[in-house]
Amino acid sequence: MPIVQQPIGVFDSGIGGLSVLQALRAELPHEHFVYLADTAHAPYGERSAEFVAERSYAIAAHLVAQHGIKALVVACNTATAAAIHEIRARYPQLPLVGVEPALKPAVALSRTGRIGVIGTRGTLNSAKFGKLLISLQGQAQFIVQPCDGLAHAIERSTALDLSRPEFATEIRAICAGYTSIMGRFGIQSGEIDTLVLGCTHYVFAQNELRDLLGPDIRLIATGEPVARQTRRLLHTAAALTANQPDGTAASAERLPLLLTTGLLTPLQTAAARWLQLPQECCSTALVAA
Ligand code: DGL
Repeated sequence: MPIVQQPIGVFDSGIGGLSVLQALRAELPHEHFVYLADTAHAPYGERSAEFVAERSYAIAAHLVAQHGIKALVVACNTATAAAIHEIRARYPQLPLVGVEPALKPAVALSRTGRIGVIGTRGTLNSAKFGKLLISLQGQAQFIVQPCDGLAHAIERSTALDLSRPEFATEIRAICAGYTSIMGRFGIQSGEIDTLVLGCTHYVFAQNELRDLLGPDIRLIATGEPVARQTRRLLHTAAALTANQPDGTAASAERLPLLLTTGLLTPLQTAAARWLQLPQECCSTALVAA
């Protein structure tokens, strides 16, 4: 198959990376995506870096071998921190994009210079994140808060009946608990005016966060910059669908293939709820370690 027609692989521990897929589909509507949710092993955030790295290598190998991907987006901060260097070393020719908490954009936007960062324990304890913080030393104050249990609650809210209000209540309570220990949020001097969502799952808790923190606080996610970076890399590799060398028109918009290593129904529910995708897009996958 010509490279331009090959799919772009995207993966996360579960449904969080769907927030990145949403941005990718908006930026690259003619590309075909294969998304893999490693739901059988989610959440990654409270597991060891070695475990997350091994899962990430297995998934990358699966997407390359079974789906012939032309690029890979690691739509998970925790997996990026644990595995991106080694994935790059294993597939030096493959355009590769990871996600990391968007601290630099937050520095540019914050007026008070106090920036909250929420993410998984795995991401925020990683050497990669430590280096990022050091690189911005003196430019702002970062209040860093791991949110154990939040990604899991978001996964659970799609695994069961969405119409039941207790899931929104649980997510809200977890968000309230963590944000309340970070200090005062607001736009006055000394207050946190910007909150970086350093986990792709947390985008799906942004309504709860906005309700809690108020409309003045900026919430910063990474989907759009990641999508733009993916476009740049594909363009450089002459692998964009719209870039067909013979000048033929780009193919019509295609539905993505969504795979899960866990149960199908939660993925179908999340895909319908957040990406308005039909159930037929979803299937199960076996990814051996
Ligand atoms: N969505 C992932 C991230 O961005 C992982 C969440 C988890 O599995 O704990 O870090």
